[in-house]
Amino acid sequence: EALTPGTTWTDKGSYPNFLLKEINEQPQTSRAAIGALFSPVAEGSAADWGSALDRSAVKRVCFLGCGSSYYAGQVAASFVENLARIPATAEPAAEFTQRDPVVEPDCLYVLISQSGETLDTLHAHRFLRRHPVQVLSIVNVRGSSLDRESDASIPLYAGAEVSVASTKVVTNMQIAGLALASWLARADYGSKSAALLELDLALPILPTILADLLAGQDAEIRALAESVHAFRSMYYLGRGPSWPVAREGAQKIKEISYIHAEAYQASELKHGPLALVDPDHVSVVVAANDAGGQQSATLIGQIQARGGAVVVFSQHQDYEFDAPTVRLPAVHPLLDHIVMGVALQVFAYHTATILDRDVDRPRNLAKSVTVE
Ligand code: AGP
Repeated sequence: EALTPGTTWTDKGSYPNFLLKEINEQPQTSRAAIGALFSPVAEGSAADWGSALDRSAVKRVCFLGCGSSYYAGQVAASFVENLARIPATAEPAAEFTQRDPVVEPDCLYVLISQSGETLDTLHAHRFLRRHPVQVLSIVNVRGSSLDRESDASIPLYAGAEVSVASTKVVTNMQIAGLALASWLARADYGSKSAALLELDLALPILPTILADLLAGQDAEIRALAESVHAFRSMYYLGRGPSWPVAREGAQKIKEISYIHAEAYQASELKHGPLALVDPDHVSVVVAANDAGGQQSATLIGQIQARGGAVVVFSQHQDYEFDAPTVRLPAVHPLLDHIVMGVALQVFAYHTATILDRDVDRPRNLAKSVTVE
């Protein structure tokens, strides 16, 4: 299927690389995921995978994955806590099996993978299947090992992802997290709560918001990338659910630009990482549209007082920060994290291309890690 005119999933058409093509496919791929995963009946809807699970038995949720899929699981965990008020965590799949975990009978374990072939994730899945627990997969590649070995799995409708750095799939993993959170929330309320009805109204708008961002804010995001590309070290700082979004942003910039980047919870900066802040260091502040505008302003001041450079991605509509800022739309408190994630992908992309990196095949990395 040709998603973008002149291209197929595996032909980049007139795009200079697959990464840019895949970033730009997100309005279509997110729409496909929302249409299927939130439909009452389609393949991929809760009617499909949910029928294999007992939601009333779920008292906790644990997402397991590797790399960006783990970070997407961390965002999904915050969605589950927010919408369903069920405790949820995420953990790297390899760490889970290596620490001889206590497998909790009332925990729903959710394995999350683009390729469905990541060995660490498959090991965690096979380990869990030997226990009497509920296991669900979120997987992009149909017919992959994880998909085949799963009794219940949420498909991602993102099409083939060729570039090593994951973008459109990470976005759809978060949409799948929202679908799971919504399904778990229904267990408590029977009919839909006000929060779920609000989400239902906002979700169809998400692809349009992404399209507007990709078309309308590319130039200003590139200008911000121009201003940071010469730095050798970066912090990505986010609060609450913005922290995993910041982690994924830092992951993307490391992978494709080779600039050293670490993500911290903004509140942790003053407890140690602040020591590295100096004029050779830049911090990317990830400011969601929450009650923490003043906290972000204070954080920016603390970095600048040490001579550190700051750039801001803000979803606050009425809050001006004293640093170069890209202001993103705020649509819905949960969907805003997805929008922010896409903006950080564009930022990493431009930073890497300014540095003339091979964005589709970053050094030392493979698309799918099938070894331990
Ligand atoms: C993402 O940009 C990375 N290439 C990497 O972290 C990836 O997400 C990880 O290796 C997990 O892969 P999977 O989703 O195919 O299991």
